Amino acid sequence: MSRNEQQVDEAVAALKDHWQSGAPKDMRAAFTSDPKRFSRYSLNLDDLLLDWSKCLVNDETMRLLRDLAVAADVEGRRAAMFAGEPINNSEGRAVLHVALRDSTSEKILVDGENVLPGIQEVLNRMAVFADGIRDGSIKGATGKPITDIVNIGIGGSDLGPVMATLALSPYHDGPRAHFVSNIDGAHIADTLQALDPATTLIIVASKTFTTIETMTNAQTARKWVAEALGETAVGAHFAAVSTALDKVAAFGIAPDRVFGFWDWVGGRYSIWSAIGLPLMIAIGPENFRRFLEGAHAMDVHFRDAPLDKNLAVMLGLIGYWHRAISGYGSRAVIPYDQRLARLPAYLQQLDMESNGKSVTLGGRPVSGPTGPVVWGEPGTNGQHAFFQLLHQGTDVIPVEFIVAVKGHEPHLVHQHQMLLANCLAQSEALMKGRSLAEAKAQLAAKGMDEAEVDRLAPHRVFSGNRPSLTIVHDLLDPYALGRLVALYEHRVFVEAQLFGINAFDQWGVELGKELATELLPVVSGEKSAEGRDASTQGLVAHLLERREA
Ligand code: F6P
Repeated sequence: MSRNEQQVDEAVAALKDHWQSGAPKDMRAAFTSDPKRFSRYSLNLDDLLLDWSKCLVNDETMRLLRDLAVAADVEGRRAAMFAGEPINNSEGRAVLHVALRDSTSEKILVDGENVLPGIQEVLNRMAVFADGIRDGSIKGATGKPITDIVNIGIGGSDLGPVMATLALSPYHDGPRAHFVSNIDGAHIADTLQALDPATTLIIVASKTFTTIETMTNAQTARKWVAEALGETAVGAHFAAVSTALDKVAAFGIAPDRVFGFWDWVGGRYSIWSAIGLPLMIAIGPENFRRFLEGAHAMDVHFRDAPLDKNLAVMLGLIGYWHRAISGYGSRAVIPYDQRLARLPAYLQQLDMESNGKSVTLGGRPVSGPTGPVVWGEPGTNGQHAFFQLLHQGTDVIPVEFIVAVKGHEPHLVHQHQMLLANCLAQSEALMKGRSLAEAKAQLAAKGMDEAEVDRLAPHRVFSGNRPSLTIVHDLLDPYALGRLVALYEHRVFVEAQLFGINAFDQWGVELGKELATELLPVVSGEKSAEGRDASTQGLVAHLLERREA
């Protein structure tokens, strides 16, 4: 079967009708009338739990969403992805990040070639290199062991390693890891000023090896090494990760320090490839393999579980329900886990670069909304910043809570319990709210007079009925992190199929890049701004004038 547009339109229309009339409006009542609501709207994969019972859904909602998934042929597209078909149709590429974490299958073919042996070969080479750096047998040019690694990359060549290295800090027993991404010279200057070139390894990470930020920062780092240790020392302090091996060679990095990957790995899906090298050096090859195994476990589940027992499908259906049917423009991801502080930024790229599209797979304008704004911060910090708006603001923003049953600090169990209590309290508050009558009763119970109660009570009303879902795993270890990230990858895939868009290209980043190249000689005063719009001309004039001030 393939996607049937007429059936998709009918399924969407049925969902819109249902949102108006049949869907629950009162979550408190829904919980009161159905004691089984939690078990009805939650799923497990081993210790991983997804609870969406605090969303405005009922059995009919889930049935209609499932009908849409069938009409949109989520299963067919899923099979095509796992089979290595070129589902990224605007770039004519397969989408096979799932192959990167598959150490059990015999073969996965791309253009008739089995890609699995090549993947294992690179992983093995990475492991030898990582072990050599970790145990000190691979040294810097002056014979000193490497104490610090600096990954230079941006977007998918940065966010995955940054996010995962922080997330897995309890497993970090290798050299210190630093990450430089921004073209702002402050980033590399602040990073390098604390480091000794003699004990530092620079990893240049870029799929294309053309990204201007990465190439510029790499040249700055090269100069830093060469000026301190001499030109001949450069080779001992650099490694590279890329699909563009010819360009890496031109940069001057020795082939035995180059780790390749393939054009069927999207940048934002590349943490599982050689882009994970800094993570592997930090946590060791064994832990890195556990990270891949966790992702593979989610792949097998996503590939094999029926739609209504499939965590990634459920997460995608709920995401679609909130975005396209309920009309919520953003979603907040709030990990109650300080080590997942960079997960929202990682998911921003994963989700927004994938599903921020306005044309269908066939290039026609989409008929409804596509990907939402994704944002977030760890709890409990967020509670003291933006949760006010989540609870009482005029926009409804679905929240995705992520929390572990246990922390890594046995001596701080009481703090972990406080973290858990806060996480559960927030979802409960969003769901239940507080009525005017309840607010008045609370104030009256404090002995306040009636006039004062009437004056203050409206400020203390919470509408409630604000949806959230909660993801719980036992412990944030390498396996659990791999599984969690893969869950979100497949969720993005499912939503893309429901929207009818290609999640695997990113043409929307091109125009800004082209204009930045054009504007570089303009802001440096070598070329006139004439012919550009009045705002750009005015800004350029201001910059040039103030530079001289
Ligand atoms: O500008 C967007 C982008 O192309 C992302 O998709 C990608 O992750 C990032 O730039 C970095 O690209 P590269 O790894 O080729 O340097």
